[in-house]
Amino acid sequence: MTTSRASIHGYWSSRVMFVFAAAGSAIGLGNVWKFPYMAGESGGGAFVVLYLICIALLGIPVMMSEVLLGRRGRSSPINTMHVLAREENRSTSWSLLGAMGILAGFMILSYYSVIAGWTLAYVVETVSGTFSGVSSEEVGEVFNQLVSDPWRLLFWHTLFIVLTMVVVIRGVRKGLEMAVRLLMPILFTLILVMVAYALVQGDFYAGLKFLFTPDFSKITPDVVLKAMGHAFFTLSVGMGAIMMYGSYLPDDASIGSTSLQVALADTVVAILAGLAIFPIVFANNLEPGQGPGLIFNTLPLAFGHMPGGMFFGFLFFTLLVFAAWTSAISLIEPAVAWLIERFSISRITSSVICGLVTWAVGLGTVFSFNHWNRIKLLDGTPLAGKSFFDLLDYLAANIMLPLGGILICVFAGWVMSEASSRDELRLKHSCVYGLWRLLARYVAPAGVILIFLHVLGIF
Ligand code: TRP
Repeated sequence: MTTSRASIHGYWSSRVMFVFAAAGSAIGLGNVWKFPYMAGESGGGAFVVLYLICIALLGIPVMMSEVLLGRRGRSSPINTMHVLAREENRSTSWSLLGAMGILAGFMILSYYSVIAGWTLAYVVETVSGTFSGVSSEEVGEVFNQLVSDPWRLLFWHTLFIVLTMVVVIRGVRKGLEMAVRLLMPILFTLILVMVAYALVQGDFYAGLKFLFTPDFSKITPDVVLKAMGHAFFTLSVGMGAIMMYGSYLPDDASIGSTSLQVALADTVVAILAGLAIFPIVFANNLEPGQGPGLIFNTLPLAFGHMPGGMFFGFLFFTLLVFAAWTSAISLIEPAVAWLIERFSISRITSSVICGLVTWAVGLGTVFSFNHWNRIKLLDGTPLAGKSFFDLLDYLAANIMLPLGGILICVFAGWVMSEASSRDELRLKHSCVYGLWRLLARYVAPAGVILIFLHVLGIF
């Protein structure tokens, strides 16, 4: 019993293309930029263990639930939730879940684009030879100069938003598929090259030890929350991006195995990025907990000293731009698709509107690294001391995505009838279905709620 709904936005040309697109969405700055600096700030191994647990117990069930809902609803998250809630005779306020996701997408993309802009700037820095033979102080200086100049940040942020919207305007097959097909395999190979360099030239043992020896005394409620938030962020789940991509998935594809493949690829890339970066950090006595500048202050050192470093550096930052690009698309696609459905406007108009809104919100992040870097918002609250950028990231990744994740699981596990979810998942083995249902109904929602309560000091 498959539903007869159809996507008005098109379909992936095959199951494999969905895996590529979803992996393209999952693998991005989250793996190469955010994972290393979060692990660095939160004590290494302990963070990594928590993150892996969250991926397995929370991230994967949410991802499967998202694809399931998306494929059944075949439209933007807001309308998918509306249609599916009606089908189950439930309140159509479930569509608010889609709306919260769209908001989170805008929030994340607005700063994601600024960081992708740093990466673009580093492509140019590398080819112009800035890093040849540099010291770690000089590398730090290059980074500081970049982030303290709002005009340069603005230029690269604007360029990145334009690049993203160009692909979104072209639509599912001509835009999204083309972009991921070629780029993901090259990026993967290049990260392996970086790991090989770190193995030979860096302090590989120190890197390994940092990433894989958990020091449980480092685990605070905030570290737990960050690890959970990052698990959602890196898999792109909790806001409807994967739901949207699921709505373009052909009927005959298996949701279970595709989700596992995506999660596995994403995790492997994050760990490899860690193995490429930390050996260089320790070999050069750099600070692992230095925050968002980490990869920009470490990798150029490696490129500056390795044979062919200019070429590899150029290739690396270029591919990171592409990885960010294929992720950015998924952050905005749900909003673009919804505007098209809701107001019957063209894809171009919808993309331009969404691009402009994101660009404007991104100005806040641009300034939070220079003009506003002394302004810390919400003094006297638990969120004190955070800049505009920190605040957006904290709210979206650590609060909104996990909250969206719970609601997605509750809908797929409790609201949707067992017959419907069984029919849509079509898992070969009944026990795999049972496992998914157990995770989606109990483990994932309870896990997120317990972590929230823990942070609030209640548990
Ligand atoms: N997962 C991406 C990364 O790791 C970022 C991303 C893309 C994302 N789409 C998303 C995060 C949707 C949350 C929700 O870089």
